[in-house]
Amino acid sequence: MDGNGRWATARGLPVAEGHREGARALRRTVEAAIEFGIDSLAVYAFSTENWARPDDEVESIMELMDRTIERELPDLAKQGVRTRFFGRRDRVPDELRGKIERLETETAHLDRLNLWIAFDYGGRAELVEAVRTILDEGVRPQDMSEADLAARLYAPDLPDPDLVIRTSGEQRLSNFLLWQSAYSELVFDDTLWPDFGEEQLRVALDEYTRRGRRFGAR
Ligand code: IPE
Ligand code: MG
Repeated sequence: MDGNGRWATARGLPVAEGHREGARALRRTVEAAIEFGIDSLAVYAFSTENWARPDDEVESIMELMDRTIERELPDLAKQGVRTRFFGRRDRVPDELRGKIERLETETAHLDRLNLWIAFDYGGRAELVEAVRTILDEGVRPQDMSEADLAARLYAPDLPDPDLVIRTSGEQRLSNFLLWQSAYSELVFDDTLWPDFGEEQLRVALDEYTRRGRRFGAR
């Protein structure tokens, strides 16, 4: 979900306002995904590197996530959205972590759409943690398989994405789902995230349907 800062700057608004509008775009996009019959939607909300941003911006993102959990996600739960977070949990403010865990529990029975929110997430950190767990467990090197590693990622139930959409014109993964996106189709959209919604999602899905996927086979 990239481009919140540029969206705000282009309007002479504080960056926090861009993040707020970004939260509205997330809601629109989740509702569009439900309509399109998508089973699973993962969004990159906050990276392990985003802590390096100015304190007031980080604070505004934490507050916004808090408010999104309080106000937006319960409405989405009424529409059948199960929400799960993945990433580090140890650096998130205690109160927010409590709200995250409550939301996950309260929506665990829902299955119209699985919403996965990457928060304090980094693909490299995730792989390092998985390897650490494997070493801790004393798995013998010769027994170690791809499935063993996949089972120790933050969210083993998160399906590998068929499609990864990057907004705002940047053409890189920026540490998102490094393991899981090995065979994902990539679509880059110039839209700044706060302007993203049903129409842009439809365009990306149309593009996806034109791709031929072979997973390395013929
Ligand atoms: C994405 O928007 C939101 C987060 C990373 C939290 P940015 O804040 O990165 O927007 P730009 O890249 O500055 O426009
Ligand atoms: Mg950015």
